[in-house]
Amino acid sequence: MVSQKQLKGPDVFARTFAADEKSLLAIAARLEARAKHGFFQQVVGEYLSALQLGGNESVLDLGCGTGVIARMIASQDDWSGRITAIDISPYLVDTGKRLVSEEGLADKIDFLTGDAHSINELQGQFDVLIMHTLVSHVVDPATVLQEARRLLHPEGRIVVFDGDFDSLTYATDAPDGGVETDRLQAIAGHTQGRVMRLMPRLLSDNGFRLEWSKAYVAADIGRADFWSSTLPALRVLLPSAGVMSESDASEYVDKLEGASMNNTFFASCNFYTMIARGIQAA
Ligand SMILES: C[S@@+](CC[C@H](N)C(=O)[O-])C[C@H]1O[C@@H](n2cnc3c(N)ncnc32)[C@H](O)[C@@H]1O
Repeated sequence: MVSQKQLKGPDVFARTFAADEKSLLAIAARLEARAKHGFFQQVVGEYLSALQLGGNESVLDLGCGTGVIARMIASQDDWSGRITAIDISPYLVDTGKRLVSEEGLADKIDFLTGDAHSINELQGQFDVLIMHTLVSHVVDPATVLQEARRLLHPEGRIVVFDGDFDSLTYATDAPDGGVETDRLQAIAGHTQGRVMRLMPRLLSDNGFRLEWSKAYVAADIGRADFWSSTLPALRVLLPSAGVMSESDASEYVDKLEGASMNNTFFASCNFYTMIARGIQAA
């Protein structure tokens, strides 16, 4: 059986089940900050609107982190459905539970700890399953999609939103313009850098029919904006992944923050959303 614990690479977001508290705090802060950014609010708003939810569905936020997507749905005025939020990290699940209590949403969301490769006890229960930047971190995306198919009602829908992290770049003043630091960032922060290019085929191979898609470029040119909340996290996460020393990570981030102050910053990554429906067996 495939398990996240078989992970071989250094991706810190894929190792949250065993990460130290300093890394988990940095991850939680980054997830909360990016959720408040207009780009992510636009992305989530567009896929929720494409889903045309009635307000009483059963929704699973898989790889929920601190539960930002679950909380966005639960806080809609007309929402009366049931939301389950699952993550492999007990620390992030506990943070999510604390935040929903503070926000008065505790009676609308159930938080659980689990590995997306095998969530056996909840089979066939959900109308909609959302993976918001999960698949780029899992050991085996095909197994996770098969599991999603089992978790959903036969014609339930899946939303997959993620970065095409092989396109992620932060320009630097190094002689190679940042090629090597981009490579280190890619392995420190992601496990499946090309998975969204393969997603239409993976969905089809695992019992889904693609119904809707949308492409985005998150590019900050001159000043860091969307990417600005990543920069403090990189100071902690690059050393935690073992790809840079603390002093190299600090120097790298200092220069990126300096570039933003000088209006010479450039960072960019492509993102995609795909919505697909389970195909009923004949
Ligand atoms: C980039 S974060 C996204 C969190 C949240 N969906 C959001 O957008 O704020 C990726 C999340 O996937 C979780 N994760 C990684 N592998 C997982 C797995 N096999 N099963 C469940 N969660 C997993 C991590 O703990 C982390 O919270």
